[in-house]
Amino acid sequence: MTLPTGDRVKLITRFEDARNILLDRENIYSRARLCEPGAPWFSTLRPPPGMLTTTDPPENMRLRRLVAGYFGGKRIKIMTPRMQAVTDGLLDAMEARTPPVDLVRALSLPVPIAMICQLLGVPPDGEELVHDWCNSLITITADEPDELIAHQMKMAAYTLELAELKRKEPGDDLLANLVQAMDEGKLDSGELVMLIMFLAIAGHETTVSMINGAVLTLLDNPEHLEIFRTDESVADAYVEELLRVNPIGDGGPLAIVTEDVEVSGTVIKAGEAVLVPVGAANRDSRRYEDPAAFKPERENRDHLAFGLGAHSCLGAPLARAELKIVLGSLFRRFPKLALACDRDDLRLQPTLSLHTLQSLPVTW
Ligand code: HEM
Repeated sequence: MTLPTGDRVKLITRFEDARNILLDRENIYSRARLCEPGAPWFSTLRPPPGMLTTTDPPENMRLRRLVAGYFGGKRIKIMTPRMQAVTDGLLDAMEARTPPVDLVRALSLPVPIAMICQLLGVPPDGEELVHDWCNSLITITADEPDELIAHQMKMAAYTLELAELKRKEPGDDLLANLVQAMDEGKLDSGELVMLIMFLAIAGHETTVSMINGAVLTLLDNPEHLEIFRTDESVADAYVEELLRVNPIGDGGPLAIVTEDVEVSGTVIKAGEAVLVPVGAANRDSRRYEDPAAFKPERENRDHLAFGLGAHSCLGAPLARAELKIVLGSLFRRFPKLALACDRDDLRLQPTLSLHTLQSLPVTW
């Protein structure tokens, strides 16, 4: 396929091929080489080297280790009561209004942004700023990147200012922890800024998209919705199937092949790029029977929504917890929730690499 920049990439759509490439047992799919001049990319703004997504093992493992402790089950457990309280507060505010209400602004966006900002150590008055900057960073465009660069610079400056504050008043958040690691010589300030910026984006835009997609899927499947609403024991299975059927975007991991390789009969030459849209792999009919259907009872529940291997999603436990709490609380509070517009009138933000709805009007 051709990216908006005109760059050509090989699109990998089969589950088994996607799985093999993500696991990369032969070490031949390089992310670091995406930063070389002339390498294919989604926008005219080149990816910075040295990020989680633009380093290969073992370098990316070093970066992952610096932050992984903040995304494990123990940390998520500590965050759960606040996640529930934030969700309940937003649902109270929603209930007090006269429908229709835009669910994106009322719920799907504020929960993930509040949680990732808390985890990173961004104060509540910085949440909106961070969201606006992140939106500009996931823009796919062949236009001049000036505005995008300006946004990046502002976010970087803000992160460094916050880091300075954390040095004076350390807390139990990720930024404070990274500042300490920086002072111990484990990373430099450029890496600190890039980690925080990446986590801010990866930590909320993805989940917002998934919550919106999941709400629509559940509304489209009223019998399943009734079970999900009334039987909490099915929540895990439902969330996994919601993750499988809802792609957060049309793109996916991109990598440069470092040796000629054959993928399902097609030779991909060294230096060419592969794009792995995990949403396509998740609907491969070779893998799943009736792949587009939402069937939480299906036996084969594994999926590639969170990737696999060296770059797999660190935030998966956080995302799963948010989906369970937000969706469960929403549909228990509003059993008659319904879309307040024609399905065909829903619009995605046009230039973003993730499926971000402009709004999701609901009534109850
Ligand atoms: C439903 C929500 C989410 C989905 C579907 C999702 C999906 C993904 C996917 C497909 C990857 C693999 C990318 C690759 O191979 O390059 C990934 C990586 C990652 N995600 Fe998520 N993600 C979600 C939420 C989150 C959250 C809440 C965070 C928290 C900060 C997060 C942080 C990360 C990180 C740190 C990586 C690893 C990047 C790397 O090592 O290259 N994600 N995610």
